[in-house]
Amino acid sequence: MTSDLTLADRLRDHFGHRDHLYGVLLAELADDWDAGGVAREIFAGWEDAEARQLPQLRLLAGLFRIVLRGDAPQLEPFYPCLGGDTDPEEAWPSVRPLLAAHVEELRASLTEAPQTNEPGRAVALLVGLSEAVRRTGTRRVRLLEPGASAGLGLLVDRYRFEGEGWSAGPAETPFVVRGCGAEGLVPESVEIVERRGCDLAPVDASTPEGRTYLRSFVWPWQLDRHARLDAALAVAAEHPVTVDRSGAAAWVRERLAEPVADDVLTVVWHSVTRLYWPLEETQAMEAAVAEARERVPVAHVAMEHPWVTWQERPSVDGGRTPSVELDGEVLGSCGHHGPPLVLAPR
Ligand SMILES: C[S@@+](CC[C@H](N)C(=O)[O-])C[C@H]1O[C@@H](n2cnc3c(N)ncnc32)[C@H](O)[C@@H]1O
Repeated sequence: MTSDLTLADRLRDHFGHRDHLYGVLLAELADDWDAGGVAREIFAGWEDAEARQLPQLRLLAGLFRIVLRGDAPQLEPFYPCLGGDTDPEEAWPSVRPLLAAHVEELRASLTEAPQTNEPGRAVALLVGLSEAVRRTGTRRVRLLEPGASAGLGLLVDRYRFEGEGWSAGPAETPFVVRGCGAEGLVPESVEIVERRGCDLAPVDASTPEGRTYLRSFVWPWQLDRHARLDAALAVAAEHPVTVDRSGAAAWVRERLAEPVADDVLTVVWHSVTRLYWPLEETQAMEAAVAEARERVPVAHVAMEHPWVTWQERPSVDGGRTPSVELDGEVLGSCGHHGPPLVLAPR
């Protein structure tokens, strides 16, 4: 994308305030870029990146990884999830030399698309699954998730969700999300007989590096999300899932060609990934699902943002609301990270 905005403008506009660490750092990086500082070196070649590539968030995640692995103890006081409570306005003098000392590593981090594997989004899957079970009368489910990252969403039945007048999931689980909304939801019980995901760049949640990688994309002051991720990782340690390295469409087509028992409903589910797919990927995956429907029972559940053009900025803070869909029908809308969910009037 070419645009009249400079990279510095885009860094400054991203949050548009200095109320938290990342707001301050992006504003300082913008000034540094304007002044010809280290930000120029780090972002060289990214000046005209598409807005949706969000190189600024990739950089902040790369910086966070340096902190998480213990190589920048001077920055820990600025990261609330590490117990820090120092005013973010004081951070830049410590951050700038660190950026200069890690230019190559941080440039490499710009090539890594955000991997927010947000397990709270599984509440949208619960809504879609419940409706699919109601419509088909089939409770035994084979769950397929393209764009699964580390596959934490595949563990939906091992999580507990509590909403307005309903709850779902085991009583004994470290993963409990309250405030799920969805007034009127009647969760259906399901038996997930098989679960599997794919991703262009799967993250292995069983390794310390994989777990650090996932944490680095969760904003450091969002303590509830860090707690939720920790809980999901604890569940995943007990119940590991397989995530294949593959693009969405080819993988879904292959999985749907596999034999499956007559009494099993195949559910293709994805969340906050279609935004990153080329249009051909989406079309090819939908074609694969449509073809499979002629052979086996299939439900397609999605929690995705409305289409954005390549020029538009994707949802960041308070942007467009994702919708929860079953076979293209909108069942409700939810927050970017899942809860709270509002069911569509019926
Ligand atoms: C923002 S993350 C969301 C991960 C997960 N679905 C969730 O909601 O927690 C987007 C994921 O989509 C993956 N992705 C992007 N393009 C893809 C494609 N064409 N095929 C498969 N995965 C893709 C990325 O690697 C990344 O893991």
